[in-house]
Amino acid sequence: MTSDNKVQLAVFASGTGSNTQKIIDHFREHPVIKIVLIVCNKPGAGVLTITVEENIPYLLIEKEKFFRGDGYVPELKERQINWIILAGFLWKIPLGLLKAFPRRIINIHPALLPKFGGKGMFGDFVHQAILDAGEKQTGITIHYVDEIYDHGEIIFQTSCAIEAGDTVKHIAAKVHALEHAHFAKVIEKVIEKNSTKPKLR
Ligand code: GRF
Repeated sequence: MTSDNKVQLAVFASGTGSNTQKIIDHFREHPVIKIVLIVCNKPGAGVLTITVEENIPYLLIEKEKFFRGDGYVPELKERQINWIILAGFLWKIPLGLLKAFPRRIINIHPALLPKFGGKGMFGDFVHQAILDAGEKQTGITIHYVDEIYDHGEIIFQTSCAIEAGDTVKHIAAKVHALEHAHFAKVIEKVIEKNSTKPKLR
């Protein structure tokens, strides 16, 4: 927490950043929660355009330092980050970073975990696997991050139907709509529940 008494969030994202945009919008005028940093591992990622437009600082990170160095813990601590939100960040979170933010890192996964998670299960690969398996429903999972991919304690899930004739594109659109509708609200609730700060609104 800083002098303006807000809980500070870093969003880790390396894709187009549509979830990041929703999160920024949700917390823009928030009395207690503030997005102070975007962390990205992909130069040229769409999310970087959003950070510039939104005037939010970003940190472009490198593999070597992330996995075999300090995991950028000093930079995150220096910026007084309280929570980390993964919104389309594909690298596994190293142990040092997990230890520095115990139960303070939240991920969103575009399927109903524990099914269709793990290494390589991202983006359209997830939706294709779900189609191939003949699933009748899919959805989203918001969960704490631990040392295993897509494995930490589940905070929230919601589902949508897969209709006959749905393609990967249709499924992706349905899942994105669920993410956009729920992710920021769930983040807000979790932080409120786990905050020692004065009650949010
Ligand atoms: C989302 O589908 C999320 O579930 C996954 O990565 C995607 C990011 O999409 N972890 P966007 O860049 O926010 O549009």
